[in-house]
Amino acid sequence: MVNYKDLGLVNTREMFKKAVTGGYAIPAFNFNTMEQMQAIVMAAVETKSPVIMQVSKGARNYANATILRYMAEGAVAYAKELGCPNPEIVLHLDHGDSFELCKDCIDMGFSSVMIDGSSLPYEENIALAKKVVDYAHQFDVTVEAELGVLAGVEDEVSSAESHYTKPEEVIDFSTRTGCDSLAISIGTSHGAHKFTPEQCTLVNGVLVPPPLAFDILHEIEKKLPGFPIVLHGSSSVPMEEVNTINKFGGHLEAAIGIPEEQLREAAKSAVCKINIDSDSRLAMTAAIRQHLAEHPGDFDPRQYLKPARENMKKMYIHKIVNVLGSDGKLG
Ligand code: G3H
Ligand code: 13P
Ligand code: ZN
Repeated sequence: MVNYKDLGLVNTREMFKKAVTGGYAIPAFNFNTMEQMQAIVMAAVETKSPVIMQVSKGARNYANATILRYMAEGAVAYAKELGCPNPEIVLHLDHGDSFELCKDCIDMGFSSVMIDGSSLPYEENIALAKKVVDYAHQFDVTVEAELGVLAGVEDEVSSAESHYTKPEEVIDFSTRTGCDSLAISIGTSHGAHKFTPEQCTLVNGVLVPPPLAFDILHEIEKKLPGFPIVLHGSSSVPMEEVNTINKFGGHLEAAIGIPEEQLREAAKSAVCKINIDSDSRLAMTAAIRQHLAEHPGDFDPRQYLKPARENMKKMYIHKIVNVLGSDGKLG
């Protein structure tokens, strides 16, 4: 059993309290590789932002669970080496789908876990989340649970259609589970294809997706004043990255994300954690494609992973400063 406090990690409790009252959101960036981890830490240190580094089940399968945990421990040491004496880094399990997976992560040093029982019947979702909360709270690990179903398809996360969170259920759910934060469904979804062109309106040659259900968010806020709310599926799928990928041999059609103004608005509310993964994948792929197309003789991974890391760092800094507003909120 490893306790996250011995690794220099923190849980989400204090940072969420400050984010909700301060009208900003904490970035939750997924990582699978060393370059993503480095870019996240560099961006958080440069902007003096708290940060959540999250690991999915797919990431554990790809990179190995133990290696990812050591990378998070390394992230704390790296932040200090970069000149940040007291970094606030959370190591979070993203979309945990069983008690056993959550327990495994807690036992190996995670400071926060998500138990995603959102596809289960309501009572089963509550029972599973409560079981995880009861275990996690013994070690002061915080727990995110989810109510409502997001649309979208990803490797390990799939749901064909979305069901918005029902505001009338949130008090009962949060009270009976004891969860520390609640992920809700208000129109975001996973991946780089969040909307079909038919669902969007053409404004000045740009496809604008339908707005998020802010009415539902505000109703939830009224029912649970000050309670930390989480938004998954919040990549904005920047057109410049999609265009670069397509210009240099890729083929991404109708890639549409959540407009950043809407995320900025959400961050000012009780939404205090915003999950971004796809934008990092796009930034990495765009830089690698461009580098290899322009330097066909290069074959040392460092030659193309360095611009990829730079491009991800630029994107993370942009999100922190211009979208979530968590810059300067350390300490
Ligand atoms: O919400 C899911 C994250 O983007 C992780 O995706 O399961 O493909 O690692 P993944
Ligand atoms: P995106 O696919 O929009 O980046 O969402 C990531 C996410 O919700 C991780 O849990
Ligand atoms: Zn998610």
